[in-house]
Amino acid sequence: MTELGVNIDHVATVRQARRTFEPDPVGAAFAADRGGADGITIHLREDRRHIQDRDLELLRKVVFTKLNLEMATSEEIIRIALRTVPDQITLVPEKRQEVTTEGGLDVKSQVKKLAKVVSRLQKKGIVVSLFIDPESEQIEASRDAGADAIELHTGEYANAPRAKRQMAELNRLVRGADKARDIGLIVNAGHGLTYKNVGPIIRELRAAELNIGHSIIARAIFVGLEEAVRQMKELIVQYST
Ligand code: PXP
Repeated sequence: MTELGVNIDHVATVRQARRTFEPDPVGAAFAADRGGADGITIHLREDRRHIQDRDLELLRKVVFTKLNLEMATSEEIIRIALRTVPDQITLVPEKRQEVTTEGGLDVKSQVKKLAKVVSRLQKKGIVVSLFIDPESEQIEASRDAGADAIELHTGEYANAPRAKRQMAELNRLVRGADKARDIGLIVNAGHGLTYKNVGPIIRELRAAELNIGHSIIARAIFVGLEEAVRQMKELIVQYST
């Protein structure tokens, strides 16, 4: 069954709004775990706008499911990753001005450079995933770069203004997933997924893992994080059968 990686960056965003000690992402990881999360996802951004180095270090010590670190390919962050050794790394593009990760990684234009980064991380036993748009050439380039997995960007699907467009995006994702599996890549997916739009993705994509943040943390404000994660897990069970 599809696993659920809970992105807890927003918990750190609330803490950083006051530069204080609460809420602590470590507490969030425990709550997500009690709700049935299969993993915890965090993005250590170069500008440290939410997750801090101490969060990564502590989470590495307390997360026994799967710690998935999203990161850009900057040398500083690569060194931190090699030192802390998360279970999985998802390489993402990163721009300082963006509110959140915008497009997928352009793997095709930098296969050689990415292959070096992928191999350095894999030598530490880290599973490496590349966050990409569902395009054939990016999928092939991900294989060429030696990645273990891809995370298909579901943002276009999530933001589609009309049902017809959303269906077309879903089909594009399914074609991408099929192609990736055919060439031996593990298929994950994420970005913009909500309690309302996740059903068809679970049912049609059969991804190994979905990474979901904003919608879960938004619901957690009203029902608590443990319950918010439980509700998302229930959807996964419901749409997987
Ligand atoms: N996957 C990747 C690669 C991301 O960058 C993000 C956002 O940090 C997510 C998944 C989660 O997206 P959302 O917060 O919209 O659920």
